[in-house]
Formats: sequence, structure tokens, C-alpha cells
Amino acid sequence: MSADGFNSGPPPGAAVDWTVDQGWSDYTAAEHQVWTTLYERQAQLLPGRACDAFLNGLDALDLHRGGIPDFTRINEDLHRLTGWRVVAVPGLVPDDVFFQHLANRQFPAGRFIRGAEQLDYLQEPDVFHDVFGHVPMLTNPTFADYMQAYGEGGLKALGRGQLHNLARLYWYTVEFGLLQSSQGLRIYGAGIVSSHAESIFAIDDPSPNRLGFDLERVMRTPYRIDDFQQVYFVIPSLQALLDATLQDFAPIYPRLEQAGDIPIAAVEPGDEIITRGAQTYAEAKAAG
Ligand code: PHE
Ligand code: FE
Repeated sequence: MSADGFNSGPPPGAAVDWTVDQGWSDYTAAEHQVWTTLYERQAQLLPGRACDAFLNGLDALDLHRGGIPDFTRINEDLHRLTGWRVVAVPGLVPDDVFFQHLANRQFPAGRFIRGAEQLDYLQEPDVFHDVFGHVPMLTNPTFADYMQAYGEGGLKALGRGQLHNLARLYWYTVEFGLLQSSQGLRIYGAGIVSSHAESIFAIDDPSPNRLGFDLERVMRTPYRIDDFQQVYFVIPSLQALLDATLQDFAPIYPRLEQAGDIPIAAVEPGDEIITRGAQTYAEAKAAG
């Protein structure tokens, strides 16, 4: 994951690209147990909710051998499948560092894991979110190409000062994306599959809007980082997502500027409505 701000160089002990050793042998038994608890809870919930690409990736990587996986071991399978690798970083890294890793087909993952007393609460992405959530999708060749292209696009957007728009695309696809399969709505976003409560909410709850994916519509929609989403965008296929982003975004950014942002919970005239949300969850929250 990336953090905003000026890259003043890596912290002590990290390499110039901000990577560190995972230090796998330093994890305690209690830390491994947190992984196993989270893994088993999600593995039971996700069949019928997560998309095939995710579930196939989870199988291919075998992330349930004995606690927190050793990145070296994951990388043997992952690199063979799509040329991607997982690298350990101390925490959030600056945007340019993050994008450079993606462009090089490297996914930066935090090494720390949440405590057993806060299984559902996360201030910063941990190794469960980063590895369980993100890495299975990187075994899919189409999604693997999308993530690399995103990294290249991120470096360009950063240079143009348009990162706020591009970050929304990441949010509503890589983190909170849904996919329409022949069997029904399925999850592919890492922020959802790594969250027990949102894996249920995103698919079953009547509160959020679920709208057909439209690139410029998504880039005009702000998002919230501290609660369930009020809108999810649904792609018809991973290939359609990749195809939509192959175009040069240079002419798109001024159009977004011109058109302005869309309120999070709004449904607009051109939207493809998959389910129109009641917004009951967000309203109840706002009412306290
Ligand atoms: N095509 C985009 C650009 O020209 C780059 C990009 C690719 C962005 C894939 C996001 C996802 O900026
Ligand atoms: Fe993430």
C-alpha cells in the first residue's frame, strides 16, 4: 500500500527500494495463530462469494500450511505463474515507491500482523490484508497485467498531479471491486476478501449501490476508508477491466476536472444500476 507524501528516502534498515527482509523466523506462535484463525474464517466464507480467479489463486498458492506464509515460498509459485513477487516493506511506502514496485511486478506487503484482540480492526494494512487479500489475484494473468499497468499509470499520474483521480480507480477495483459472473455477483477486491464483515455486506446487504463499472464515472467518485462502502462498481470480466485502462488517460484527466466529483451515494442518469442501495447502513451510522 502507499502513503501520501514526499519520499525522503527509506527508513533505517530498509533497502533503497524500501524493501526489508520479511524476518519469517521471528514471527511468534501467537502471530501465526492469528493468520490461521483469519485464514480459516475467510476460506469458509468465500466460496460462492469470491470470484474464481481469487479462489483458484488461493488454491495455487497454498497459503494455509502453517501460519503466516514465508514470502520466499509464495514467490516460487507466484513467479512461475505470472512473473510477480511479493516483497516485504516496513509499512506504508510513498506513492512513487509503491508504483515503481507494481510496474516491476512486485507487490509490497507489510510484514506485521494484527493482534488477536483486533481481528476485525485495522489501522494500516497488515500481512493478512496484503497477502491473503491481494496476492491470490496476482496469479491471474489478466489481473497481473492490470496491476503492472496500474503501477506505470500511477507513475505518470503522479508526474501530472492527477493521483487523486487514479487512486479512486485502485480503490474501486483492486480494493473493493465486484465482478459479475454467470453465477452471480462475486468479489475480487482485496479490501473485501480480507474482511469478514465486508465479504458479507458487499454481496448481501441491501444498503450499498452496486453500479456497472465505467472508468470515468469511477474516477469521479470519492470513497471512504473508514467504513463499509456506499457504492461498489461491478466489472463484467477482468479482461474488460484491463481493456478499459489500456487507453492513454492524458485526455481523460481534464474531462474529469471539467465534470467534477459525484457524491458517493448518488445514482446518476447514465449509471447501469445492478442494485440500487437503500443506504440504510450509512444513514443509521450518520444518525448515530
Ligand atoms: N493507461 C493509463 C494511462 O495512460 C495507465 C493505467 C493502466 C492506469 C491501468 C490504470 C490502470 O495513464
Ligand atoms: Fe490493499
